Amino acid sequence: MKVCVIGTGYVGLVSGVCFAEIGNTVFCVDKDKDKIELLKAGKVPIYEEGLAELIKKNIKNGNLVFHTDTSSGIKESDIIFICVGTPPLPSGKPNLSAIDEVAKLIGQSINGYKIILNKSTVPIGTAKRIKKIIKENQNDGNKNYDFDIVSNPEFLKEGEAVKDAFFPERIVIGSESKKAIEIMKKLYEPIINQDFGYAVNNTNKRDKVPILLTDSTSAELIKYASNAFLATKISFVNEIANICERVGANILDVTYGMGLDSRIGSRFMKAGIGWGGSCFPKDVRALSYTTEEYGSPASILNAVIQVNNYQIFKVVQKAMDMLGIIDDKIIGVLGLSFKPNTNDTREAPSVIIINKFLELGAEVRVYDPIVKEYPENMDKGAIMSASPYRAVKGANLMVLVTEWSEFYDLDFKKVKSLMANCNILDGRNILDRQKLQKMGFKYAGIGY
Ligand SMILES: NC(=O)c1ccc[n+]([C@@H]2O[C@H](COP(=O)([O-])OP(=O)(O)OC[C@H]3O[C@@H](n4cnc5c(N)ncnc54)[C@H](O)[C@@H]3O)[C@@H](O)[C@H]2O)c1
Repeated sequence: MKVCVIGTGYVGLVSGVCFAEIGNTVFCVDKDKDKIELLKAGKVPIYEEGLAELIKKNIKNGNLVFHTDTSSGIKESDIIFICVGTPPLPSGKPNLSAIDEVAKLIGQSINGYKIILNKSTVPIGTAKRIKKIIKENQNDGNKNYDFDIVSNPEFLKEGEAVKDAFFPERIVIGSESKKAIEIMKKLYEPIINQDFGYAVNNTNKRDKVPILLTDSTSAELIKYASNAFLATKISFVNEIANICERVGANILDVTYGMGLDSRIGSRFMKAGIGWGGSCFPKDVRALSYTTEEYGSPASILNAVIQVNNYQIFKVVQKAMDMLGIIDDKIIGVLGLSFKPNTNDTREAPSVIIINKFLELGAEVRVYDPIVKEYPENMDKGAIMSASPYRAVKGANLMVLVTEWSEFYDLDFKKVKSLMANCNILDGRNILDRQKLQKMGFKYAGIGY
């Protein structure tokens, strides 16, 4: 099929590449000219394992085309993917201006039957909103062309996006149109049956991928409710970690013991510095906003946000406990991205923590294996270091905020010889506490 993907960010780029790889012709368009120029040259603006190779391969075989002309992308395609950002407004309500802009352009450009498939995370009612805007913008020349809207929320995880796109745990299709649902089943058939070239011998291959057919409103809510539930799980565990610290229990044992119950499960049970990223914060706030807008109390959702805000601040408190006065101290921070294997720093707790250290007068040195530029909201007073060892040289405290694999294997003899004081605050509970304590480090984790 011919597919136009509008918005080549994390979701659009990975989805576009995936649908090209399974045999469709994909036009990936974006209004960001610089991004498109990079992609045309085979360079990838985001860090995702395996993505660069797939882009190069599919540009070469003609299945993947990048350009900035959204209107011609729409005209040339049977299916239009909307993958633009839906960032939060100060109220928590999602900003739908990019969605509206795209819907308007689709209305103006439509030149035959099209399926408009929305992958952006959007509040309930957005499928109907897109339909209305498209209709309002059809003109005398194209007003007779029919179209259908499909809500197809995306569940890929940054850091594992390529794997998730090809081998998803589920596909959710929400639409009021039987015709659109049949076309969707056809589009997703290779993924559902896991029979495409990339799947052969791939260890992530599934037997079959479940597809859930539902109405558009339920599909929209499935996405928000899933993210909000995952954030709840983390906030819950962080609250338990804080009780552990008070009573002398060990959060690692507590969560392990809880997770052995299959109704609870062991995933997403890690205490730490709090959740962040481009999805959880905005999606929990958006669901809370919608819940209250429709007259229901958002008690759990609001508590989940409150616990997370406290957890991020708690890291700073722990640093204060270890250092006393922060002013004039040197703090080496390991990690910046909101989680490993991605370069995304949107709403990363690390940035809030670093800014707070700087505000309190510390000298902060930061090392991340992939993020080399200052995140938008990070105070430029922080010094970017070229290696973890440079970051901790002369430091009074090392704070580990992102569990990149290279931090598991640091040479702690070297770290010890470099640091002014051997204080380690392990915000992800990944380091060997006993070993470090034996070596003479003062160690603090989260919840043990
Ligand atoms: N990042 C994730 O892990 C993830 C996972 C699931 C769902 N989502 C959702 O998917 C949506 C996109 O997220 P993302 O992280 O890919 O965002 P992103 O910011 O990385 O990418 C969005 C892209 O859309 C482009 N864009 C904006 N307006 C445009 C327009 N009018 N025409 C053409 N291009 C336009 C931007 O230039 C940008 O490149 C959001 O709603 C998000 O919540 C994200």
